[in-house]
Amino acid sequence: MTDIATLPKVEIHLHIEGTLEPELIFDLAARHDMNLPYASLADLRARYAFEDLQSFLELYYANVAVLRTADDFTELTLAYLRRAAAGGVRHAEIFFDPQAHLSRGVALTDVVDGLVEGCRRGEAETGTTSALIACFLRDRSGEEALGVLEQLVAVKAPIIGIGLDSTEVGNPASKFTAVYARAKELGLHRVAHAGEEGGPEYVSDVLDQLGVERVDHGVRSVQDPILVRRLAIERIPLTICPLSNVRLKGVASLAEHVLPQLIAAGVVTTINSDDPAYFGGYAEDNYAAVAGQFALSVSDLAQLAHNSVEASFLSPDRKATLDHEIETWLRLQST
Ligand code: ADE
Ligand code: ZN
Repeated sequence: MTDIATLPKVEIHLHIEGTLEPELIFDLAARHDMNLPYASLADLRARYAFEDLQSFLELYYANVAVLRTADDFTELTLAYLRRAAAGGVRHAEIFFDPQAHLSRGVALTDVVDGLVEGCRRGEAETGTTSALIACFLRDRSGEEALGVLEQLVAVKAPIIGIGLDSTEVGNPASKFTAVYARAKELGLHRVAHAGEEGGPEYVSDVLDQLGVERVDHGVRSVQDPILVRRLAIERIPLTICPLSNVRLKGVASLAEHVLPQLIAAGVVTTINSDDPAYFGGYAEDNYAAVAGQFALSVSDLAQLAHNSVEASFLSPDRKATLDHEIETWLRLQST
């Protein structure tokens, strides 16, 4: 039997706030003497039936209220890296939402220092490496995003790049050209969510106006065959999150997911978990779901893992090491 949890993989679309499991929400609330608006774990879990992206974001932003100290961010990150490592994640490029914490009065240094310590301890314990990408909230202003980027620079936050998340439709890429230009000047990598609920024009816009190197989700690109050809020819990776797309009703069911179309068109597709505490699975669960649904072979799975290595911002040396690990895994599957 294929052991997807041992397939070495890289996770490149993961919101650390989306790894906040219900038990940790209750633990942290108790520690901080906070009242939660949920009667029990079961009551909280009952709210995980989402209608769309917005209905999810409301719960996601409400729950981050329990993250108050640097230690909370460390604990969250360490818990994620332990869980990810158990599922074969060898490297994770982790998103965080500074504005979701600054707006509650949490100091940026507490957020950043806590995350960095979690990454350090996670690597020491599991060997899984990680890097941080600061995401800006698309439903807030471009000026605020630029101000937050300057604050990150001022505190010497060791981020490798910037991203764009939150409410997509109605918040065009054009709001964020200045912050992406500044990130480029700083030598940072640039990614953005697009084509999750918005149409293919949202994907073209983040490519043309923000100069992103990969697109988070991007599933609605399939509505524009010329865009799909461009993604394939320019080898612009899509960070696809199948269970997220199902839970947020981007697709009616996994059977209708566009992953096979994108693979067939030659797009560099990668499999990721987005907000695993909310969507029913970590990286390996997402691989397993598409493997089952689309009868993927072990070499198809290895190819998806190779794609995640290619799409990452790792050094060529580390990429070569991980590609070698994937090939070793593949050989073991056929023995
Ligand atoms: N923030 C956390 N998860 C997100 C998603 N799937 N789309 C947009 N913003 C997000
Ligand atoms: Zn996301």
